[in-house]
Amino acid sequence: MLVLVAGGAGYIGSVVTAALLEVGHEAVVLDDLSTGHRDAVPDGASFVESSLADVGQTLTADAGFDAVIHLAAKSLVGESEQRPELYWRQNVGGAMDLLDAMRVADVRRIVFSSSAATYGEPDTDLITEDARTEPTNVYGATKLTIDRMLAGESRVHGLGAVSLRYFNAAGAAYGLGERHATETHLIPIALQVVTGDRDHLSVYGTDYPTPDGTCVRDYIHVADLAAAHLLTLEAVGPGEHRIYNLGCGSGYSVREVLTAVREVTGHPVPDQDAPRRPGDPARLVASSDRIAQDVGWAARRSLTDMVRDAYEVLQARGTP
Ligand code: UFG
Repeated sequence: MLVLVAGGAGYIGSVVTAALLEVGHEAVVLDDLSTGHRDAVPDGASFVESSLADVGQTLTADAGFDAVIHLAAKSLVGESEQRPELYWRQNVGGAMDLLDAMRVADVRRIVFSSSAATYGEPDTDLITEDARTEPTNVYGATKLTIDRMLAGESRVHGLGAVSLRYFNAAGAAYGLGERHATETHLIPIALQVVTGDRDHLSVYGTDYPTPDGTCVRDYIHVADLAAAHLLTLEAVGPGEHRIYNLGCGSGYSVREVLTAVREVTGHPVPDQDAPRRPGDPARLVASSDRIAQDVGWAARRSLTDMVRDAYEVLQARGTP
């Protein structure tokens, strides 16, 4: 297939692009480089520097695209609560521009990077796709809105669409790892302590109703995420909108992640107890049974793999 990867210069998008190329697909990466990196675009992919507002110039009827993978989005929960208008404009407005262009060019297949943030505060231990969706922040609300747009586009215009609800993406693959100007995620921050770029890590909240009082998350290796994109891209049919959770089905607390980072790297990671971060649910763990049953996907890589692979890429790069 010839696939347009919107956001393919970002962390997850670049790994998805490399995975597409590895199995013989062709990829055109479209990215405005607002948070992505030109040098993250894998060799073998074409690159177009463009915002989604101009995607119609690339996604033309005669360009021959078979499908789109859409990962271009603003993705910081905290920022979304500071600048909601930016998130609605970029995420929802961008998705509308993309769907318009796909309709005009008659490209009828899309895989979209949705999020666990669509669920908000879960009331079950394992979150299935049928769980209540009540996002607690603007970022999650924009992702849920796009999921609903895809449902309508499928029903009315016959689009084949997949919403992949990532839980906590981590790790690295194909030499590509996380590299955010503003780093907010647990494992990259812990590794910055390991490499001496920070002197400690703040543990946000130690009084949650969890076994050790810190938040529990379902960490999922970025290579496992990429595999799910490829499988669902091929499986989805016209007029379908499929929603799939992507997680391992097991949760790790902040303290357990820090233990893994210390064990894998052999470095101390000083931490300090800190107040809760606003908007953090106590526990977010996925049931990924639906995608396992439908397309045979399962997470294959462990938390240790995620930390080790992220650390290796960081060491190879020489900077955080
Ligand atoms: N944490 C710390 N200290 C830090 C950073 C994080 O204690 O310095 C904690 C957080 O409070 C949280 C856990 O580590 O309990 C994981 O935090 P991350 O920021 O790594 O990830 P989130 O769970 O907040 O965010 C992830 C995705 C988002 C998505 C969200 C859904 O990265 O895109 O899940 O709730 F929106």
